Amino acid sequence: MSIKIINDSNPLMKKKSSPVSLPLSTEDQETLDRMLDYLKKSQDDEYAEKHHLRAGIGLAAVQIGLLKRMFVIYYEKEEKIVQYQLVNPKIIEYSIKKCTLENGEGCLSVEKEHPGYAHRHYKIKMSGYDALTKKDVVIVARGFDAIVLQHEYDHLDGLFFYDRIDVNHPYELLDNEQLI
Ligand code: NI
Repeated sequence: MSIKIINDSNPLMKKKSSPVSLPLSTEDQETLDRMLDYLKKSQDDEYAEKHHLRAGIGLAAVQIGLLKRMFVIYYEKEEKIVQYQLVNPKIIEYSIKKCTLENGEGCLSVEKEHPGYAHRHYKIKMSGYDALTKKDVVIVARGFDAIVLQHEYDHLDGLFFYDRIDVNHPYELLDNEQLI
């Protein structure tokens, strides 16, 4: 499996990715399949240890060096699997209410610690093409699920979770912000 993840010192990571042409090319589909496969394997303790992988739940194309507006998500929550291969996603609605992960966010492309609260919208509505189900989707997500989608979406615009942390007040909650 030839996936090489680049990190935030690579200037590509700060660039805006370009829209992907649809219908999806075989090549793009294969890329998304490899990315999803990578996430699944990264969550298999034995495999991850053997191949020195960090467990990840989301991966954007730019993280493997492709400036394309697509990302994959894979994690288990409340005995359900949340998985997407989202292409050309858009945030079409978001709540004023905010939320943040109590333990902070992490990223496969970030090695350094960035302590603090990354502020996110509590609820979002995201549209896009899901290559996994081969359908146009509108996803309504709250809390943790919304945070994961916003984290990956940010990568498409060259942003990192630490860009959402107030360096002067890293652990200050905003008004109307829920700790997750
Ligand atoms: Ni990330």
